[in-house]
Amino acid sequence: MIILKSRREIDRMKVPCRFVAEILNGLRSLVCPGVTTHELEQYASSEAKKRNAKCAFRGYHKYPSSLCCSPNDQVVHGLPTKIPLISGDILSLDFGVVYDGFYGDAAITVPVGDVSDAAKKLLAVTEASLYAAIDMAVSGNSLGDISSAVQSYVEFRGYSVVRDFVGHGIGKNLHEDPQIPNYGVAGRGVKLKPGMVLAIEPMINEKSHEVKVLNDDWTVVTCDGGLSAHFEHTVAITENGPEILTRI
Ligand code: MF3
Ligand code: CO
Repeated sequence: MIILKSRREIDRMKVPCRFVAEILNGLRSLVCPGVTTHELEQYASSEAKKRNAKCAFRGYHKYPSSLCCSPNDQVVHGLPTKIPLISGDILSLDFGVVYDGFYGDAAITVPVGDVSDAAKKLLAVTEASLYAAIDMAVSGNSLGDISSAVQSYVEFRGYSVVRDFVGHGIGKNLHEDPQIPNYGVAGRGVKLKPGMVLAIEPMINEKSHEVKVLNDDWTVVTCDGGLSAHFEHTVAITENGPEILTRI
C-alpha cells in the first residue's frame, strides 16, 4: 500500500532530507586519499547527532553502521573500514536519518583523488540517469516510466543496471511501497500521484549487472570485479512536478 503524504508532511520531510544532503555534502569534501571510511562514518554520525537526528541505517535489519561506504566494485551496503582510501578509488556513500518521525535517504558516488576517465564516465552516467528518472516523477506518469528512464539512459551508454536492489517509497518508514526497480517498461506499473515520496536510487555497473553478497552478509559487490556507482535522492511528487527533497 502506497502511503500518500500531505503538503504539511512533505514539508516536515524536508528537514531530515536537508540534513542528509548537508551531511553528504560535508562527506564529499572530506573524501581524499588517506582518509578512512571509518572516519567518514564518525563524521556522519556526529553531524546527525548535532542536528538531533537519528541515523536511519544503524540497527536496521542489524546493519552495523550509520553510513554505507562502498568503494570501487562494491555496489551498496559496504561497511566502514580503517583502510585508507587511495587516489583512483571511487566511493559510494549512502546515508539516511530520521527526524520528527520522518526519514530522508540519499546517496552519492565520489572520486578519490585522480580517477580514470572510465570511472569519471561511470559516475557522470549514473548521476545523469538519476536525473532522467526524476524528470519522469510526474503525476499521471507510471512507475515504469521512472524505471525505464534509468534503464534506457544507462544501457544506451553501454552500462548495466543492478536488478537485485531497488529504490523505494519513503516517509515514516525507511522503506515503503512501491519498490522502484531501475529497469522496466514505460507506461507500466502504478500511476504516480501527488503525495508520493520516492527514494530513487540507480545502482549502475561498468560491466555485467550480476552482483553477490559477501560473507559479512551485507557488502554487495559486482561478480566480475567491475566498478559500480550509486546515486539516490528522496523526491516528492507534487502538483508542480518533482521536488528533490535531498538537494543541497
Ligand atoms: N539507501 C539504502 C536503502 O534505501 C540504504 C539501506 S542500508 C541498510 O536501502 F542498512 F539500512 F539496509
Ligand atoms: Co534508499
